[in-house]
Amino acid sequence: MKELRIGIIGTGMISNRHMTVWSNIPGTKVVAGCDIDEAKVKAWGERYGIPEENLYVDFREMLKRDDLDAIDVCVHNNLHTPVSVAVMKAGYPCYCEKPMAASYADAKIIYDCAKATGQKLAVQISSIYNLQTRYAKKMIEEGKLGKIYHARSVGHRREGRPGFDMPMFSRDFIKKDIGVHGPLCDLGIYHLAQMLYIMGMPELDTVYGVSYADYYQDPRLLPDGLTYDVEDLSVGIAKFKNGVSLDIYEDWAMHMDEVGTSFIAGSMGGIKLIDVDTTGGDLAVPKGGRIMGGGEAQKPTLEFFGYEDGLKTSKIINCQENGRKEAQLDPRMALYNDNQVHWAAYLRGDLDDSTRIDSPFIAMETALLSDAIFVSQALNRSVTGDEVREMSKSIALHKQETPWGVIEYDF
Ligand SMILES: NC(=O)c1ccc[n+]([C@@H]2O[C@H](COP(=O)([O-])OP(=O)(O)OC[C@H]3O[C@@H](n4cnc5c(N)ncnc54)[C@H](O)[C@@H]3O)[C@@H](O)[C@H]2O)c1
Repeated sequence: MKELRIGIIGTGMISNRHMTVWSNIPGTKVVAGCDIDEAKVKAWGERYGIPEENLYVDFREMLKRDDLDAIDVCVHNNLHTPVSVAVMKAGYPCYCEKPMAASYADAKIIYDCAKATGQKLAVQISSIYNLQTRYAKKMIEEGKLGKIYHARSVGHRREGRPGFDMPMFSRDFIKKDIGVHGPLCDLGIYHLAQMLYIMGMPELDTVYGVSYADYYQDPRLLPDGLTYDVEDLSVGIAKFKNGVSLDIYEDWAMHMDEVGTSFIAGSMGGIKLIDVDTTGGDLAVPKGGRIMGGGEAQKPTLEFFGYEDGLKTSKIINCQENGRKEAQLDPRMALYNDNQVHWAAYLRGDLDDSTRIDSPFIAMETALLSDAIFVSQALNRSVTGDEVREMSKSIALHKQETPWGVIEYDF
């Protein structure tokens, strides 16, 4: 098997999770890295044994190498479009962190660039490369839930604003120019994408949405000159052209203990999605360590409610154990359980456009749904999906100040 040689752009927090996963995938190796912050990229190189000559502060220099097969983009939200486009235009396959982009227009620019350049693009959405998601989708496809009519997408943290309540996370999450939006574009992306994918990517009809930034922000928790200027709660109700509705609730700070879980309701059964995967599963857990940000690896599970043999039933479907056995019986199934494994298999030709999960399309349609909530809020009325496709604006950065100069982006 030919080794896949990867270069990483952005050596911040999430790059460490990617490094753990790459180190757990045979035949893949990260050989180069770049960060605009020289001290940061040097420390990162030392941590992972990457020699200094393979470390860069300007990713455009890294892209001039002739020994890289693919690029992993780990910069923050509003740089995904400019950097991913630059990567693909330079002739590389691209793996981009979530959210694909903060607006539908920017997500579409990345999507169209992949089509125009023919480069193999994937977007990190751990919740869709996942046994919980696969079994939920299978149950719907097999008709176990009957006619689906309503679903709920939920995410809640009592006090978990990255970079604010959780100082180990990048402050870029809470800055409008770079993070752009609050929880809906953070964990919300995992929940929305999972719902859309499980329900077979229904076409968006109408959305009504509101967002708030009203949870108290203690000014002493931000250093001088920094602001917290994104939302802390977004709520919406979406209707799809097939008649199904989805209510959306996503906060990362709310004076409330719990707000329930995501679910899908059908005429013959309902499923509850417990512990949706937002951290990347077993391969993302460092040996002997804990998942990034602390805590144990998640254990995504499904609970089914309905009738079986005429008897009212509630039962837990143990996704992890079933998945392990499934992959033992058919090793190809393991290709569907992790983002990076899936992309590496796609790059090698073990998966193709007909057998891979089309994360760029799923991520772009997810961006349409999240953008619709913000467009609806701005217009103070419901909006149609078609309107949002027309009205969505590119807000990604065209120019970036760095410690060593300005990068101008062309997209
Ligand atoms: N931190 C998490 O737990 C987490 C989880 C899942 C997804 N993500 C996503 O990953 C992305 C990055 O998040 P993070 O937490 O790692 O942020 P971070 O701020 O820790 O890391 C981003 C890094 O990119 C560098 N950078 C910025 N512009 C660059 C450029 N032009 N070239 C090279 N490097 C550049 C920054 O200096 C920084 O070190 C975000 O889009 C986020 O939504 C983060």
